[in-house]
Amino acid sequence: MAKAKTAYVCNECGSEHSKWQGQCTDCGAWNSLSEIALSSAKTATTLRRSGYAGDATMPRVLSLVDVAQSIDERTSIGIGELDRVLGGGLVAGSVVLIGGDPGIGKSTLLLQMLGALGQRLNGLYVTGEESLAQVATRAQRLGLPLAPLRALAETCVERILDQATAHKPHVLIIDSIQTIWTEQLTAAPGSVSQVRESAAKLTRFAKESGVSVFLVGHVTKEGGIAGPRVLEHMVDAVLYFEGESGSRFRVLRAFKNRFGAVNELGVFAMSEKGLREVPNPSAIFLSAHAGPTPGSAIMVTREGTRPLLVEVQALVDQSPLANPRRVALGLEQNRLAMLLAVLHRHGGAAVYDQDVFVNVVGGIRVQETAADLPILFAILSSFRDRPLPDKLVAFGEVGLSGEIRPVPNGEERLKEAATHGFLKAVVPKANVQKKTRIGEMEIVGVERLSDALGAIL
Ligand code: TYD
Ligand code: MG
Repeated sequence: MAKAKTAYVCNECGSEHSKWQGQCTDCGAWNSLSEIALSSAKTATTLRRSGYAGDATMPRVLSLVDVAQSIDERTSIGIGELDRVLGGGLVAGSVVLIGGDPGIGKSTLLLQMLGALGQRLNGLYVTGEESLAQVATRAQRLGLPLAPLRALAETCVERILDQATAHKPHVLIIDSIQTIWTEQLTAAPGSVSQVRESAAKLTRFAKESGVSVFLVGHVTKEGGIAGPRVLEHMVDAVLYFEGESGSRFRVLRAFKNRFGAVNELGVFAMSEKGLREVPNPSAIFLSAHAGPTPGSAIMVTREGTRPLLVEVQALVDQSPLANPRRVALGLEQNRLAMLLAVLHRHGGAAVYDQDVFVNVVGGIRVQETAADLPILFAILSSFRDRPLPDKLVAFGEVGLSGEIRPVPNGEERLKEAATHGFLKAVVPKANVQKKTRIGEMEIVGVERLSDALGAIL
């Protein structure tokens, strides 16, 4: 048998190096390389080419029509919001990584998924963190039928795969991938090489057997899934569970999905009986103010495939510091810096000596540029200490030269706002097709930031 080959993989960017070195030459991170064992894929290929391996292992040439048909077969889980985020249901042989802060509800959701699949599909819940008794207690508390639920407390990937091969589940849940290790490596469980190699084995198993595998992943302080970036490349879908600790609402977001739309959102509420779906989440991210409040603006974002009304709050205050603070929660820091510069140059509001805090209500992340205009409204409203007009909604991308650019699906966003009783919408001119009103709602199309600020004064 040939000597086992090893390589060094960077924990930060996932690039592979043949030698150990102090700094990753690809991303520049220091002390980020760890050793991994390479399985000898080459030998297998050589054997196959020379005709030693049987026909069963020979890859076949297929027409994509046949392939597409098999992909289309999706199983509805029975939890609508989860089906939505997955792109329409469970795909056989797919690998889904679910990340999120501890206690957000990852284990609960997956157990509920097995419960919902119930008699239709066999599941196997592998727990590496909790005891079987804890899993059973939770299932009982969730009111799930216990008989069809199968669980296994095990952390060695080889033994897990043996059990999975014997029990032939349709769905295999690994909670969590950071506790799993392979006999092939001597590194400690949880180390990058163990996580990567175990995930690779599970992925291979999923593809070969057609079992759908769900991996639970821990999240680092920076918000990424702990372990090498390669985990994200290996799997078919990466879902993040987000939510504020104080709020009972939880948002499941598709960060990557080979079978559906990215940024698709599923909304849940945590209750005594586990996670409940919120099928019409449009207005839950609005906080309940008694009346108009300075520093609060409502936007219509369209993350995924449906519009959501979300409140953004800003606090602008005289800074005692030489470098005033700019803090953005739920949106990108650099975007905020850019918007403040545009506000100064094209909106005539000098906020360079002010601390600026911006927060998106409900703990959700907004990545769309359509949030630009409402963010600036919230900032200006706090800066001037004047509330925005009552029942005002806005969306639109703000360019560096102060122009307001259109965003996709303007019509749909406007309709959603009108349905929720908003009375005025300030939106990019190019998003308004002649219409100046929908029902009670007046629509103001603007081309420049100065027009937009004029419209709210
Ligand atoms: P859990 O699924 O264990 O989170 P994770 O696996 O992401 O770490 O979530 C546990 C949290 O959810 C815990 O704080 C208790 C709460 N919870 C409820 O409020 N109701 C319930 O029915 C369950 C099962 C948990
Ligand atoms: Mg858990």
